[in-house]
Amino acid sequence: MSILVLGGAGYIGSHTVRQLIDAGRDVVVADNLATGFTAAVHPQARFYQLDIRDRQALDALFESEHIDGVIHFAAYSQVGESMSRPLKYYNNNLYGTMQLLESMVAHDVGRIVFSSTAAVYGEPRSVPILESDPTVPTNCYGQTKLAMEQMMSWVSRAHGLRYTALRYFNACGAHPDASIGEAHDPETHLIPIVLQVPLGRRESVSIFGGDYPTRDGTCVRDYIHVTDLADAHILALDYLLSGGESDVFNLGNGVGFTVREIIDVAREVTGHPIPAVLSDRRAGDPAQLVASSEKARSVLGWEPRYGDIGTIVETAWAWHRSHPHGYAEV
Ligand code: UFG
Repeated sequence: MSILVLGGAGYIGSHTVRQLIDAGRDVVVADNLATGFTAAVHPQARFYQLDIRDRQALDALFESEHIDGVIHFAAYSQVGESMSRPLKYYNNNLYGTMQLLESMVAHDVGRIVFSSTAAVYGEPRSVPILESDPTVPTNCYGQTKLAMEQMMSWVSRAHGLRYTALRYFNACGAHPDASIGEAHDPETHLIPIVLQVPLGRRESVSIFGGDYPTRDGTCVRDYIHVTDLADAHILALDYLLSGGESDVFNLGNGVGFTVREIIDVAREVTGHPIPAVLSDRRAGDPAQLVASSEKARSVLGWEPRYGDIGTIVETAWAWHRSHPHGYAEV
């Protein structure tokens, strides 16, 4: 009776593994370590270094472990890179998921929870965004995630596999004990970049666009704590294991913050002035992304614990201050 976490050495994967193990579950982690870190793999998880595109390695894993359910984080996730290297994204995210589903079907493993994204919606018509809103991705990353959802849906009809697709908004923060946290190379996300200024790793932060139709002209995002996302994966898995039907869920706090507001919160948390410089818009950024997560609350019983943005940034700050170079110094 084990749970397989693919991509369990990555940011959201490592937090989910931690919570599964804290809840007494038996966990197997598989990761190719392309963007994940050995130091992020929980010592109580059985670790396989493998790539999901390697069908033989997947088959061997399913033959040697008794896997009840899979949580699938193993994908590339940088929007900018997906635009310049689309085939890299199709290869890992789609071909990799195809190999995974083939192996799962062959080994009669029929439950999977997987990472989707707010990027499947593209530029929303209105906020908060509902799961039933149009999905019109504006970048290749979002397109591959939408295609993964659709692949699951067809496989589900043909083979009876059941899945939940979790569409995250802006994942952020770190485990409250600061032992694991966010580490990307290169880092592109707002909160870790802002915190690099008080860490002395950059002089200032660039604000990408000040002329959006929002309350202060900068983009609005829905920031959701990584441990709340981890909770949602476990609830979604247990929902499937207890007979729940395949479904799609948004995961966000339902509250939007502008880029300037996030920088102000970071100034307050760190006590550093954090100089900010207005620069051009970044291609492909929607003005506002705010989730309605009512469905996850009512169907899965999900209740995010981190509603306060100051507390969220405090957990990120505790991680980055104790690990200024991510896992490199661990
Ligand atoms: N931003 C800046 N300066 C920076 C970095 C970011 O102003 O140095 C702005 C961005 O333009 C955006 C906001 O801060 O308006 C948040 O940017 P992030 O890069 O942190 O996050 P995104 O909203 O772009 O991306 C998130 C997820 C993606 C997902 C996307 C959906 O990280 O995986 O939402 O659009 F695809």
